[in-house]
Amino acid sequence: MHTVEINTMTGASRILIGSAFDNVSSCLTGKRLVMITDSTVHDLYHHEFPEGETIILDPGEDSKTWDVAHGIYARLLDLEFDRNDFILGIGGGVVCDLAGFIASTFLRGISFGFIATTLLAQVDASIGGKNGINFQGYKNMIGVIQQPEFVFCDPVLLKTLEVKEFASGLAEVVKYGVIMDSELYQLCEQKADRICKREAGILEDIITRCVRDKCAVVTRDEKESGERMKLNFGHTFGHALEKVTDLSHGAAVAIGMVLAARLAEKLGYLASQESARLVSTLDSFNLPVSADIAADQLYEAIRKDKKRRGGQIGLVLIKEIGSSFIHFIDLKDFENLIHDLC
Ligand SMILES: NC(=O)c1ccc[n+]([C@@H]2O[C@H](COP(=O)([O-])OP(=O)(O)OC[C@H]3O[C@@H](n4cnc5c(N)ncnc54)[C@H](O)[C@@H]3O)[C@@H](O)[C@H]2O)c1
Repeated sequence: MHTVEINTMTGASRILIGSAFDNVSSCLTGKRLVMITDSTVHDLYHHEFPEGETIILDPGEDSKTWDVAHGIYARLLDLEFDRNDFILGIGGGVVCDLAGFIASTFLRGISFGFIATTLLAQVDASIGGKNGINFQGYKNMIGVIQQPEFVFCDPVLLKTLEVKEFASGLAEVVKYGVIMDSELYQLCEQKADRICKREAGILEDIITRCVRDKCAVVTRDEKESGERMKLNFGHTFGHALEKVTDLSHGAAVAIGMVLAARLAEKLGYLASQESARLVSTLDSFNLPVSADIAADQLYEAIRKDKKRRGGQIGLVLIKEIGSSFIHFIDLKDFENLIHDLC
């Protein structure tokens, strides 16, 4: 078992990698508990849940809405929940984002923690304090930054994940390697087989590295005024691909990372062997590396991205695997480059 601690302006958090249900009760002594989960996770693991009330959501992104949040606030009022009580989110990124948002806003904030049950939640969504909901079709439009008291990440829980959900998390693992952690990247290259077989030992090692990497970035830039943007590597293209195709998040991010690497190549920052290395690693994780999409369609979707500033867009680029930087580019130049890429 590994423990990573993070201490920021919005609180301190302990992330425990290598166990979950066996140890969570020791973090909850004397507190009244409401658990928020989804029906898939509930069906699989409810027999291991600690004692307490359970709110069960429909699985998937459609639950990350104001209407669902409204229903949960009403239920907490009915239960006469107070500031000494505790909210435990048990699930993937959707459950963690929503549970963290409810806990951070109800009664101006009550204590909360997570058991993260998807690889994406264990390496990314449950870590770093961003909690929120989607609004009018825009992702994560309403939210807060507040650290959970604890997060449990148990790789054993990943055995039941669907292949595409596991691959989604692997895309984020590769992302950390590419932007800041060449040793993690090498681990992905050398142990792809064992990772794909979901061996708990190797998963615990890579999850721990990802959590350490994310915590280091968040500690330096919690409010995303600079360095935290690096965690969006591949996501500008990825979110646009998600909007205009039926690709899953992980697949879209994988292709987005390849596009960002090829852009870095075109701008003269990255050697072509490094892009080829990225393609081969994604391939070994059964992630796609290209999509059949028109340049105009991709550009239009990116132009509407909320992260653009005036006439420029901020992109995360790489110089080599393990080292990234933020590059602002005029939208017009960017449009021309996209036509070269697609
Ligand atoms: N807050 C952040 O910093 C942050 C970062 C990245 C992503 N996110 C958010 O995370 C969300 C995506 O998270 P996700 O990919 O975990 O999706 P998810 O929570 O929808 O989970 C994916 C699917 O896996 C199922 N599932 C969960 N755990 C399981 C298990 N152990 N076994 C079998 N099935 C299981 C769920 O029921 C769901 O159907 C998005 O809403 C995204 O915006 C947030």
